[in-house]
Amino acid sequence: MTDKIAYGRHGDIAVLRIQNPPVNALSHAVRKGLLAGLERAEADDGVKAVLLVGEGRAFIAGADIKEFGKTPLEPHLPDLCNRLEASPLIVVASMHGVSLGGGLEVALSTHYRIAQPDARVGLPEVHLGLLPGAGGTQRLPRVTGVAAAIDMITTGRHVKAPEALEAGVIDRIEAGDPQTVGLAYAQALLSEGAARRPVSALPAPDLIDWDAAYDAVLKKGRGQIAPAQAVRAVQASVELPFAEGLKAERQMFWDLMKTDQRQGMIHAFFSERAVGNLPELKSVAARDLVAIGVIGGGTMGAGIATAALLAGLPVTLIEMNDAAMDAAKSRIAGYLAGALKRGKISQSTHDAMLNQALTIATDYDALGTVDLVIEAVFEEMAVKKSVFARLDAACKPGAILASNTSYLDINEIAASTSRLGDVIGLHFFSPAHVMKLLEVVVGDQSAADVVATGFALGKRLGKISVRAGVCDGFIGNRILSTYRTAADHMILDGASPYQIDRVLTDFGFAMGPYAVADLAGLDIGWAMRKRLAPTRDPRERVGRYPDRLCEAGHFGQKTGKGFYVYEKSQRAGAPNPEVMALIEAERQERGITPRDFADTEILRRYMAAMVNEAAKVVGEGIARRPLDVDMVLLFGYGFPRYWGGPLKWADLTGLIGLLEDIESYANEDAYFWQPAPLLQKLVAEGRSFDDLNKEAAS
Ligand code: 3HC
Ligand code: NAI
Repeated sequence: MTDKIAYGRHGDIAVLRIQNPPVNALSHAVRKGLLAGLERAEADDGVKAVLLVGEGRAFIAGADIKEFGKTPLEPHLPDLCNRLEASPLIVVASMHGVSLGGGLEVALSTHYRIAQPDARVGLPEVHLGLLPGAGGTQRLPRVTGVAAAIDMITTGRHVKAPEALEAGVIDRIEAGDPQTVGLAYAQALLSEGAARRPVSALPAPDLIDWDAAYDAVLKKGRGQIAPAQAVRAVQASVELPFAEGLKAERQMFWDLMKTDQRQGMIHAFFSERAVGNLPELKSVAARDLVAIGVIGGGTMGAGIATAALLAGLPVTLIEMNDAAMDAAKSRIAGYLAGALKRGKISQSTHDAMLNQALTIATDYDALGTVDLVIEAVFEEMAVKKSVFARLDAACKPGAILASNTSYLDINEIAASTSRLGDVIGLHFFSPAHVMKLLEVVVGDQSAADVVATGFALGKRLGKISVRAGVCDGFIGNRILSTYRTAADHMILDGASPYQIDRVLTDFGFAMGPYAVADLAGLDIGWAMRKRLAPTRDPRERVGRYPDRLCEAGHFGQKTGKGFYVYEKSQRAGAPNPEVMALIEAERQERGITPRDFADTEILRRYMAAMVNEAAKVVGEGIARRPLDVDMVLLFGYGFPRYWGGPLKWADLTGLIGLLEDIESYANEDAYFWQPAPLLQKLVAEGRSFDDLNKEAAS
């Protein structure tokens, strides 16, 4: 026995209580303890049944992810599962909180399963770039059938107890202390003379069209291999005897363990949890957040207000006039109606949010009691400054004044108030009630408790919050500007926007950069180009054809035309033929003879530009750690999660080769391709971006 498992005896039932906080992961000590506990129960005179129960907030959250990559120690989880199932005693699991991955596999290896009404089960291994490796793909289809098993395993979704009962994953739901209800259930089974019921002995499930299922899952995963591979593992549960199926599953599990995708996904798992972990905020209490204000009810203001309402915060929104107030209200009503339709909120909650929690006004005096205000007005410094001066006058002392600006200088905005310490940037992403990313932009004077409150708000809104320093575009938009420029250069030199978009979606991005530009609105980039034009370095190559699209009134999706043409009935656009004509005219004007770009070169240049700028952002301290950049790109820019983020991708791809490529591109355009000093330093020292993450954590 180990101290991770407590052994107890209750009449003829032995209880193995798992005690491995915070989530009872199946570490080596837990596996060893469970095996020893089972052996003790089997040898314990008079014991007829064994009850497994978890202490704390979960039954078992799965294998211990921190042990991945290390030499696996015995007992291995699949062996432990087989041993539990083969026990001559009746083995029962009483499940509460989550039973995930290896946790559900342990439960499926017991003979009977009882769960709390709010318990959740799932096989989320695909989110780590893996598939269930301890019998999950063999046992789950035997209790649920193939279709439900493929759904659960390939999506990795958490299934609530009632659905799990319906699907046959659990046998009974009962509220109460998990050990008490588990003991009562085991006692009832013994009294009824219930037999052992190994899942492996159940008949193999039905055949399906495996190739079609594999292809569909591969397509949906945009290149992620693990979910598609999981279909093959389920196939083995049907086509092979149980023991052979287990072996096949195990082989696939270990093959996936060796992949870059697994490393990328696990990097994402831990980075997602590390972003909010900032040493300077450890002992800093956030300010109270009872009510918030939003200035501007356009695209972003309405989305931010909706996010806050959905999180239970009352919102006072300020607009310019009656018509703008009405427009803001109908935007918010539309978003809330969507939440109602998707079952996220009830009708009564919806009505209360829209009619009681939301106040819309034109007078800034309405903001007298709010604790934090987020400004989302037009992206113009003069407008922002006048709004902040008015906020400074209207808001109570201690109220935090935040800007949702995409690019502008937070320090300059703060200087238009008398409370520099209370000003920060809170940069949301569109649509703000959906997108998970929040950049908390820290100005030179922002107080620590103001930053802590930014993170607290992010948490309350269910966002992944990342600390960013002040520069043009902060972390995400600054990097976006650079890789978009690299793409724009390739277009001037011979590539097409459509080839570039295809290469990037093949890489795993949800959308290519030109489809994204159409979605965001081409006017945003146009305004920025005009803003930067007066101070632009003459060596900078800037295409004029996107301006010509805007001059003709084509702003992308919102006007029906941009890089693509959007028919009303169709969501995706078709290439706009006018665009290639504009590009060709510009190449002629500039005397450029277009050349062919191989898909691999497009990807390489695009990613090299992204990594190089990201390394500058980390080197200058705008992002604290490489992982902060990775999470910004993952949650705000559709970067494929299975690569972990651009700097994880860079580590996996090799920094030496990337720097060599950047240096060779610099031969053509030394101004754009200036290698990041941090990248040069890492290469010189033979270190990786991940080494910097580890240093920051220690
Ligand atoms: N192994 C190791 N540590 C884990 C863990 C695991 N399986 N699951 C969670 N943790 C850690 C987290 O890293 C975090 O640590 P920290 O406090 O030091 O940052 C702590 O537990 C609490 O986790 P969260 O902050 O995520 O807490 P939540 O309450 O928000 O979520 C959870 C809890 C739903 C269990 C969530 O952590 C989760 O989804 N965990 C991963 C579950 C999973 O993927 N299981 C499958 C593992 S693979 C497997 O089982 C292979 C098998 O098939 C062979
Ligand atoms: P928008 O044009 O849709 O909305 C701006 C709103 O502000 C309008 O409804 C306008 O009536 C209102 N407004 C203007 N001046 C005001 C004032 N003095 N008082 C009260 N209301 C006023 O603009 P959008 O897209 O919502 O952008 C707002 C801000 O958010 C900008 O700073 C932008 O850079 C930033 N942002 C935009 C993103 C996007 O994808 N659209 C993403 C992230 C940030």
